[in-house]
Amino acid sequence: MSKKIGILTGGGDCPGLNPAIKGCVWGAEKFGYECIGLTDGWKGLVEGLTTPLNKEITEYAIMRGGTMLGTSRTNPFKQPENVKKCLETFKKLDLHALVAMGGEDTLGVATRFYKEHKLNVVGVPKTMDNDLSATDYTFGFDTSVTKAMEAAEALADTGRSHRRVMVMEVMGRHAGWVALFTGIASAADFVCLPEKKVDTKAMIEKVKAAYAKKKFALVVTSEASELDSVGEDDIKHALDHFGHRILKDRGMGEHIAQFIEKATGLETRHAVIGHMQRGGSPTLFDRMLGVRVGVKAAELVRDGQFGQMSALVGNNIVGVPLEKATGALKVVTGNWFDLMEVLF
Ligand code: F6P
Repeated sequence: MSKKIGILTGGGDCPGLNPAIKGCVWGAEKFGYECIGLTDGWKGLVEGLTTPLNKEITEYAIMRGGTMLGTSRTNPFKQPENVKKCLETFKKLDLHALVAMGGEDTLGVATRFYKEHKLNVVGVPKTMDNDLSATDYTFGFDTSVTKAMEAAEALADTGRSHRRVMVMEVMGRHAGWVALFTGIASAADFVCLPEKKVDTKAMIEKVKAAYAKKKFALVVTSEASELDSVGEDDIKHALDHFGHRILKDRGMGEHIAQFIEKATGLETRHAVIGHMQRGGSPTLFDRMLGVRVGVKAAELVRDGQFGQMSALVGNNIVGVPLEKATGALKVVTGNWFDLMEVLF
């Protein structure tokens, strides 16, 4: 009988997960394993929720958005009995290994199962925020930013027609990659990132100068940015299972739009692309990256490289220690700020 690999996807979904599942399943079958899906992230391992996975089922997954396995933000380490349940499910399903696809939280859990419970775990990095270390890019980012870029362009069209200032809010919980790339790609006049408090004086000057020239201005902000004039304590947040701030109702785009209108007297509108940027079919880049890191995960299992994650380094897919990916977040720094100085 072939050895069995369990696959789960955790955290926020993003385009590229289905290609990664396909890659992992096709790689695994090629190397003589069979696969089984655990549904709804770590909740699936806690509760023993499974779904069949094979080459036939995943054949067209390469072009589909979301995750066919479902996902959740369940953290089994919040309750010791859930950790126990995960270990029992692993045993009951007779798994040889588990491939966990996710961002810092999901892979953080994977790291703990590997280190503290010696489970045969391999990771696959995913996040539309692109904030995982040890991999150059994560799938999901390219598709989300492409969608956000198109939305920003559309926003600019209407803003230009009405002679307005337009503010667009994009996702990105701790890192400003989505806002930065969206802003550059849509020729925005100013970008607000969570990495640095927004210099409101500079923002207002830029907006005024842009408006004086073209009777229109576009500002792109991350949902998590902060103005230098507003303390974070002024804004309340709920927290998720992993202790992260839930930002969906924070309204940074609206807040910045109001700030600009008040400071400049210019008519200003805002829009939030929100979860729309996280759905839809993956771009070519995300299909290719997803399927490649998926196959690599199967290779890592075959080679007994547990506690590793498949990563994009240059144009190669390699194995890196899971701990390296989850130790510190990759945020916008250095050269990127120099580039911003040139472009905004
Ligand atoms: O997965 C990352 C992310 O997309 C963040 O950019 C965003 O803050 C968060 O997820 C939203 O989470 P949820 O889908 O749970 O509202």
